[in-house]
Amino acid sequence: MEKNKFSLPRGTADILPENIALWQAIESKAREILKNYNYKEIRTPLFEETDLFARSMGQTSDVVQKQMLTLQPNQREGETGQSAKMFSLRPEGTASIVRSYIENNFDKKESLTKLFYIGPMFRGERPQKGRLRQFHQIGVEAIGPNSASPFLDAEMIALSIDLLKAFDIKDYTLKINSLGSAEDKKLFSQKLRDLISKDKSQLCPTCQERLDRNVFRILDCKSKECRAIVSGLNLGTSFLSEESQKYYTQVKQALKSLKVAYQEVPTLVRGLDYYTQTVFEITSTSLGSQDALGAGGRYDGLIEELGGSNEVDGIGFSLGIERILLAQQEPSAVKKDQPLDVFIVTLDEPLFEKGFGLLSLLREKNIACDISYKVSSLKSQMRLADKMAARYVVLLGQDEMAKSVVTLKNMATGEQTQVPFDQVVEVVKGKV
Ligand code: HAM
Repeated sequence: MEKNKFSLPRGTADILPENIALWQAIESKAREILKNYNYKEIRTPLFEETDLFARSMGQTSDVVQKQMLTLQPNQREGETGQSAKMFSLRPEGTASIVRSYIENNFDKKESLTKLFYIGPMFRGERPQKGRLRQFHQIGVEAIGPNSASPFLDAEMIALSIDLLKAFDIKDYTLKINSLGSAEDKKLFSQKLRDLISKDKSQLCPTCQERLDRNVFRILDCKSKECRAIVSGLNLGTSFLSEESQKYYTQVKQALKSLKVAYQEVPTLVRGLDYYTQTVFEITSTSLGSQDALGAGGRYDGLIEELGGSNEVDGIGFSLGIERILLAQQEPSAVKKDQPLDVFIVTLDEPLFEKGFGLLSLLREKNIACDISYKVSSLKSQMRLADKMAARYVVLLGQDEMAKSVVTLKNMATGEQTQVPFDQVVEVVKGKV
């Protein structure tokens, strides 16, 4: 009978040990910068009630309509109370953070809650370069009662750029826009519908549907026919109320004072419903068609929509780690190997036991070490030591044992010395 062969689910990837240093470098640089901006890490579950995502991102968003990975309802006995609820893997982090913010009454504890998260997100998209079904985001959210401030918006945008710079991304463009308040958005969508309706028959089939249910998405449709219609609209920000217009101007001024270069893009609307006022996206030409390194914006109505206070405002963004890795120009700057201090070579079974004992003594002193669990030839064990990039080899052979010593070899210089067995740990500790 042929054995079952399993393979990766489509649109996912193993992050293999040889690439882990690149991931860790990104994560640790992110943590360092986020600490300077006073953001604290939060970890929320990988799945939440499906309705949380539908309510936040919007029933008509592409993510909710087509990409949710929903779990089989749990039929187990004793969990029937939950049976009516559906759960989905999280397609993004903002909804979960807002859920947790409300549930933990953060608004009663601090005036502004600054949180970040790093972890996997799940969307059942058609996989292609830079588009996965399981991908990873570094996300940042600042939420608090009456906390909307153009300076916070500008700082949030500057933070996203600071992170990309720290990851050695050189080719990027920051695009910004304002969607205005919830009322402005309503007005704008009506205006758009009026403007586009006359050309309905020329829109792509998806956008013909979008005209009624999600007119904003027509603005960033990639099809040629829709792009032609949109560019003819000559969109500006005239639909913004005076207040929103002023806010947007202040955000741009603050960006200038922070020396953050931006491009204003009136068609930038974002695919998720919760955004109001400032929205932004950072793209890179080195990525191909999935060109967004990250994106975000303000979501002042979302906290109330999810059951919290109507006074609480929020803003945030997230960056896609896989896309950062694709856009990094010199990832080799990161040392890929995990260095090993010592590799122990033993030349027969009784000596192996001595070597095996030595491992734990070395590790107690925080020395990274390993051994060949199979007592093979000296040559093949030395080859293993080389492969592991060991800095030193401790050799235990019959000659050494007869004299109660080990041979200590410096793998970089080839120099060999004999060290009394009971001093090995101390001597190695002094060298590594
Ligand atoms: P988003 O634009 O859906 O926004 O995703 C943010 C970033 O995640 C994208 O720019 C991209 O780098 C990455 N990304 C998204 N989908 C995929 C995918 N299928 N494969 C690989 N990478 C992907 C959000 O998720 C919002 N929660 C951002 C935000 C936070 N807004 C406010 N706070």
